[in-house]
Amino acid sequence: MNISIFGTGNMASGLAVLFAKAGHAVTVSSRDEAKAQAVAAELGNGISAASFIDAAGAAEAVVLAVPYEAAAEVIKAAGGLEGKIVIDITNPLSADFSGLTIGHSTSAAEEIQKNAPAAKVVKAFNTVFASVLQNEGKAGGQPATVFVASDDENARNAVANLARNAGFKSVDAGGLASARYLEPVAGFNIALGYGLGHGTDIAPTWQGIA
Ligand SMILES: NC(=O)c1ccc[n+]([C@@H]2O[C@H](COP(=O)([O-])OP(=O)(O)OC[C@H]3O[C@@H](n4cnc5c(N)ncnc54)[C@H](OP(=O)(O)O)[C@@H]3O)[C@@H](O)[C@H]2O)c1
Repeated sequence: MNISIFGTGNMASGLAVLFAKAGHAVTVSSRDEAKAQAVAAELGNGISAASFIDAAGAAEAVVLAVPYEAAAEVIKAAGGLEGKIVIDITNPLSADFSGLTIGHSTSAAEEIQKNAPAAKVVKAFNTVFASVLQNEGKAGGQPATVFVASDDENARNAVANLARNAGFKSVDAGGLASARYLEPVAGFNIALGYGLGHGTDIAPTWQGIA
């Protein structure tokens, strides 16, 4: 799969390496193209760099690894992402990480879908800490779970396969409105990891689902 990752930070770098090691063609993009070039060179594994618009043009899937508040801006810079699988890993966190800025009757994923109406938005990877990515997708020594939600069944299955192929367990979370649940789960994971001192070698899963 040709995968374009928007962002050069912790999540972007971790996912880029896991996807590249799994055999995908991976590009990273930044608003600062020199930074994207430098990060791609540092990550190795055949990962390249390109502008948002160039990377999006060639991509089958685009990962939004930027703050939720920047999503609309990068979607615009990429020309709207029509027809693309758009993997939304964002969590709409308050500045002090103590809560979510939206929820209940919508979610970051649904707002992103409104901004990219012709894209196939898939919520995934938002409940996985960046340090778990550095650890080959494992938390507590076990493959972490990626919950996958989308209104497009083919896109949902493609991202579930992508996650499994990169070493994770995947759970089908149904339609995109499930992001209203998945984003608070990520908030709870942060509360457990940072607030309650369990650290970041943890990940939520669902017992009884194979
Ligand atoms: N960290 C985690 O454990 C974790 C876990 C699950 C989900 N997430 C979500 O993953 C996303 C990325 O998190 P991260 O930890 O990787 O963050 P990060 O390390 O701070 O990286 C953020 C990236 O977003 C870019 N960015 C910020 N504002 C931008 C804008 N206005 N326009 C374009 N690019 C912009 C930054 O580029 P510059 O370098 O140019 O500023 C950087 O490449 C967030 O939505 C977060 O909620 C994080």
